[in-house]
Amino acid sequence: MFNDLIIYQIYPRSFKDSNNDGIGDLKGIIEKIPYLAELGINAIWMSPIYASPNDDNGYDVSDYYSIMNEFGTMEDFDLLKKTCDKYNIKIIMDLVMNHTSDEHKWFKEARKSKDNPYSDYYIFVDNHNKEPNNWESCFGGSAWEYVKERDQFYLHLFSKKQPDLNWDNPKMRKELYQMIQFWIDKGVQGFRIDAISYLKKPEGFPNSPFEEDKFGHAKCMKFIAGNLKTHQYIKEMCETLFIDKNIFTVGEVTATSDEDIKQYVLKDNHEFSAIIPFVPPIVEIHQNKPIDLKKRIFKMYDLIKDQGYIANFLSNHDKPRQVSLYGNDQEYLKDSSKALASLMHTLPGIPFIYQGEEIGMSNVYYENIEDYNDLDTLNIYHKSIKEGKSKEEAFKLAQIISRDNARSPMQWDDSLNAGFSSCSPWLKVNPNYKDINVKQQIGDPDSVLNYYKKSIHLRKNNPCLLYGDLKEVKTSDDVISFTRTYQNKIVLVIISLTSKELPYDFNFKENDILLTNKEFKKGVLLPYQALIVNLKTGK
Ligand code: GLC
Ligand code: CA
Repeated sequence: MFNDLIIYQIYPRSFKDSNNDGIGDLKGIIEKIPYLAELGINAIWMSPIYASPNDDNGYDVSDYYSIMNEFGTMEDFDLLKKTCDKYNIKIIMDLVMNHTSDEHKWFKEARKSKDNPYSDYYIFVDNHNKEPNNWESCFGGSAWEYVKERDQFYLHLFSKKQPDLNWDNPKMRKELYQMIQFWIDKGVQGFRIDAISYLKKPEGFPNSPFEEDKFGHAKCMKFIAGNLKTHQYIKEMCETLFIDKNIFTVGEVTATSDEDIKQYVLKDNHEFSAIIPFVPPIVEIHQNKPIDLKKRIFKMYDLIKDQGYIANFLSNHDKPRQVSLYGNDQEYLKDSSKALASLMHTLPGIPFIYQGEEIGMSNVYYENIEDYNDLDTLNIYHKSIKEGKSKEEAFKLAQIISRDNARSPMQWDDSLNAGFSSCSPWLKVNPNYKDINVKQQIGDPDSVLNYYKKSIHLRKNNPCLLYGDLKEVKTSDDVISFTRTYQNKIVLVIISLTSKELPYDFNFKENDILLTNKEFKKGVLLPYQALIVNLKTGK
């Protein structure tokens, strides 16, 4: 039912600025819908566009019913919806419901006293003069913040401007469901549901027994994630709002085990259509070898098969750029961007393209810490210095893992600020925009952009790629290879993720190649070569 979805993630702040204030906006998105239709995608997921003071760039919502001032108005949203309808593009909204902004009216009321109507919408705990337990916020420091008016601490698993909602309160849940219904009534066809594994906090708020992991990241998150009650709340929400209405949902989850993954996504459990497992960037840079990627892919398929949808993504607004992480963003930028595209569009599940990946945008590596905006980056930088790293070392780490790598403005052309805005953007453009931009690639048949178009077209028109079973073909560690089989037809996929040439012994003819990113040389896989081949079945 969702097999043919191809989702394009927009980070609205960085996509296209229509009124030249340096910040992307809804009118900018509207302007680029024809470009996206031409690319071949059929759904957009926008990172949050609700009113927000932007402590965490929109992931701190102060009003779910209105559009962030900088992004435009509700009229702009309605026009965006109309435009998307015209091009048969679905709209997927980001839902942030683990927490709100501390500037949301519920929290402003709640913090005033223990006996106001919203006092139980958040998690407040009595504990004089001392944090209730050892939980740390994902963005550094204690997860508890003291409120004098109530003489209590409130919980914030993310920044202190993102207080956690109390899902044990049925009135609060009902208000959230009404809010979701408001967006369904506006015609939204899907939701990406943010940080959803932490709804139910362990009873009594015990200390997390987890040791600080070697990356120092949010040690209490796995302790809190995915308990029985959280799954019950997710199920209640999905059954109330999505399941019977054919509304697509993708939950961003912290998976604690294989069983936990299945619980979230297998159809019969009535939770999500698909999941995005969250892995901190700092962990990923240690696990980005082709062999790691390969293991993850086949393991996920083994768990889910056709009983749910796998979200195929290598990039998003929380990760370094995929070509920098899994490819080679120097010598083989173009080839490796295309190889990764081939992978995404031939696997079972739903491809998620993150803005800019379709032209091979790579990490930015700004020169000064002041150039970075992301609060996670700044936290990691300062924390590393506190722990004894030199400024240079701390900066290097921040540069590699920064979420701003993926958040620098979209590169539309080679004019000032990459055609994103005529005014200085909220985050600097990547200086490589003169060479890597949409305008230049549209006219170049050999460009990454045109290869994306071909890959998407192939996927949409090939039943093996849409519905086929997946089977791993064992090859060298640096090559990912598999077949997709559907109704006696087989497609073979071979993707090299190394800058070395490798021999291979698959037997097929040049004529059977459906798509490749390099010239064909029998018996040899060129660096970052992808081959997608029709296998003859004799029938
Ligand atoms: C998710 C979002 C991330 C945000 C966090 C808190 O992980 O993807 O960008 O910072 O939740 O809402
Ligand atoms: Ca703007």
